[in-house]
Amino acid sequence: MASHNPETDHRIDAMDGVTLIINDHRIIEGLFDDYEAAGDAQARLGYAAKISEELSLHATAEEHALYPAVRRTLPDGENHEAHSLDEHQEARRFLEQLEATPVDDDAFDRDMRDLIDRMRHHHAEEERDLLHPLRDALDHEGCQRLGRQIRRAKREAPVRPTVDSGAGAATRDELAERARALGIEGRSEMDAEELSEAIERGKDG
Ligand SMILES: [Fe+2]
Ligand SMILES: [Fe+2]
Repeated sequence: MASHNPETDHRIDAMDGVTLIINDHRIIEGLFDDYEAAGDAQARLGYAAKISEELSLHATAEEHALYPAVRRTLPDGENHEAHSLDEHQEARRFLEQLEATPVDDDAFDRDMRDLIDRMRHHHAEEERDLLHPLRDALDHEGCQRLGRQIRRAKREAPVRPTVDSGAGAATRDELAERARALGIEGRSEMDAEELSEAIERGKDG
């Protein structure tokens, strides 16, 4: 999702909240497939870093925008929210553990595959228990509003991935690319944190 395609970005800008989250699930599951098919440790590390970044962003957006809507709208929303939050915490524990594990250690691949299985299950459960019922319960404007809230939560979420790809510059490159797209001046002199701040200001302005 890091590479910008104006056509896709436009499509995402118009998506309702339920479609947006389901679209995220499919994109993240594509990365799971890529990880599982990767030929060597370096490729696995690259996909793991990407998965970590996308999962963190996705989970934060759900916690800020989707789950409050679930709690307000669905009859057993509070239980579903609590269950989903538990699974997010579990995923974060996995990601923290992976961060501390060398990629060539057998435990890295074992834990990553375990995390992937759990997250596929989490996505399926969210779609069955939260997203489809929410689409039935909300009217058109409610679904669109949820989409705007999710996009805002993603923009405001921290960008630093938990699992570092080993190339710290990759994150800065990605920020530089976002800064370029926003036409931010002086970006070549900025470090990752300054870029991140400038991007936030650029979005507000
Ligand atoms: Fe989730
Ligand atoms: Fe999700």
